[in-house]
Amino acid sequence: MIISLKNEPEEQKSWELRSFFPKFIATVPKISGNDVIAWFQEKNLIDQNFRIKVDGNNIIIPLTSQITPSEINKQMISQFPIEIKSNKENRYQVLPRNTTPRNIHEILQNLIPKELHEIIPRSFDVIGEIAIIELNREDLAPLRPYISDIGNSILQTHPNIRSVFEKASNISGVYRLRNLSHVAGINTTQTLYRENHCVFQLDIAKTFFSPRLSFERNRIARLDTKFNHVGAIWDMFCGIGPFFIQIAKNHPESTFFATDINQDAITYAHQNIIRNHLINSISCFQQDVKSITQNENFSRMEGKISRIIMNLPEKNIEFLPLLPPFLHPDGCLLHIYQFSEKNEDFQTIQNTFSQQLNNAGLIVDKIENIRRVKPYSPALDTTVIDVVIHKA
Ligand SMILES: C[S@@+](CC[C@H](N)C(=O)[O-])C[C@H]1O[C@@H](n2cnc3c(N)ncnc32)[C@H](O)[C@@H]1O
Repeated sequence: MIISLKNEPEEQKSWELRSFFPKFIATVPKISGNDVIAWFQEKNLIDQNFRIKVDGNNIIIPLTSQITPSEINKQMISQFPIEIKSNKENRYQVLPRNTTPRNIHEILQNLIPKELHEIIPRSFDVIGEIAIIELNREDLAPLRPYISDIGNSILQTHPNIRSVFEKASNISGVYRLRNLSHVAGINTTQTLYRENHCVFQLDIAKTFFSPRLSFERNRIARLDTKFNHVGAIWDMFCGIGPFFIQIAKNHPESTFFATDINQDAITYAHQNIIRNHLINSISCFQQDVKSITQNENFSRMEGKISRIIMNLPEKNIEFLPLLPPFLHPDGCLLHIYQFSEKNEDFQTIQNTFSQQLNNAGLIVDKIENIRRVKPYSPALDTTVIDVVIHKA
């Protein structure tokens, strides 16, 4: 863009010039650089809009106003020569600093009353090019009038983010979705998300997705176990496919079944299989798992499943009685995600869970692992249990 200065009032011209390069330059030998810079800083003489530059054995310091070397020498002891020059036409080619604010707090401190600075959110979820903020809490209500400022400050400080949404409800319903309201940027809920060398297309309004399971999915995907091979792997509540696709990428020889009741999730899962160039045998289909024995794929799954992922923490336990006909005779490694109370010890969680498996006609061979995956609410965590089971 060319900005013409013709016919502008004189004052305006000089303002324009100042904004392109500093008016004065100090040239000092490198050896005395630190002392001189510190002195200029103390006197507030450095033009902070521009970078200090190294030029051979000298340092070039951008200055806001003229000061004579004798004035400097009067006030500081320097045995090295300091030159102060006017910088007409930016002869010294000093570059502007990157003036992008570093974080949202830097922008918001000028827009939001001081007493609210403490409660400005310190973090937010990012899924692909979408940021999701959470202000829908009583203690954050005073920030509500500034929600657009918060959204815009995220866009300004995160060049990869194109849309900002607010969580407008808790996750609910069979599809495990939440309401979202648009705050800033482009109003689209579709995005492309990268995780653990895989890529996922999704719509955050139509499908469940949590970026907070990234570490856990990597752990599950990399697990090298005989249960990857003796039979097939079933991702029972697969959503857009982040679990089974990452396992498939790591174990190209394994066979997969993937089901979800939400047709939109299955449509995205199909796209994601293609996007990730998977070569595995994968049957991914829309299905209410409660009636899966009526599906044509049932005969291919019966007695063949040697690894299962059950990520539906609110309701998993209801589905356990469905498992026995599917289990491979050599056993099955089950990864089940559940809610546990913050202070509940692992032994209590294990005991309760083993009882639930027994009630469902399943026998526990071995609990391989139990770990807290992430906090779910102030009172609950999501916990995973990896357990080898077979039918009673
Ligand atoms: C918590 S999400 C997990 C999705 C996916 N595994 C992930 O980690 O992103 C649970 C999924 O279970 C699906 N679901 C709920 N009830 C179901 C049912 N009866 N049969 C099949 N899928 C079901 C929902 O549509 C949702 O996509």
